Amino acid sequence: MDFDTLQAQCLACTRCPLAQTRQHVVFGQGAADAEVLFVGEGPGQSEDEQGLPFVGRSGQLLDKYLFAIDLDRAANCYIANIVKCRPPQNRDPLPQEAEACMPWLREQFRLLRPKIVVCLGRVAAKQMIRPDFSVTKEHGEFIEKGGVWFMGTFHPAALLRQPQHKPDAFGDFVALRRKIREVCAHTYA
Ligand code: URA
Ligand code: SF4
Repeated sequence: MDFDTLQAQCLACTRCPLAQTRQHVVFGQGAADAEVLFVGEGPGQSEDEQGLPFVGRSGQLLDKYLFAIDLDRAANCYIANIVKCRPPQNRDPLPQEAEACMPWLREQFRLLRPKIVVCLGRVAAKQMIRPDFSVTKEHGEFIEKGGVWFMGTFHPAALLRQPQHKPDAFGDFVALRRKIREVCAHTYA
């Protein structure tokens, strides 16, 4: 299975009820050889309209943080979400929706074999790191699981609501740059 085949299958997915209300499946975006994988929660309105992850206001903020540490979604990282279809009114994905959708993310992970996974916000961190992960207490800490480094940080939408956390978030990205230099082979090459 290659990325294009996986994407084509995902775009036709009807495994959970979110299929009924979506405009577009938001599969993910980035370099096929990315060593750094960002995982958000799920598409919002702009993402649902455009079929691309993090293209609304929070995406613009994410792109600034990426730029600050020489990452670019077109060139040297990959961006995906826990659920690929927009939850109505931007509510949190239900546990059964996340479970139904996780096989897509697992396949993306299997194809990419990232060295680092950055969880953007509580929903992704709880799903990918630990069910009781606390972004407030544990943001920026790297946790190794099976040779892959996981880190949770603030969701960009949360930073738009609570800008007082921006310095902490920036610190997490500086720590990410350090970790990339340490464990990645070609992200900064
Ligand atoms: N928020 C997310 O969690 N993911 C997106 O793709 C956009 C906004
Ligand atoms: Fe399929 Fe995921 Fe969309 Fe549900 S959210 S329909 S599981 S792609």
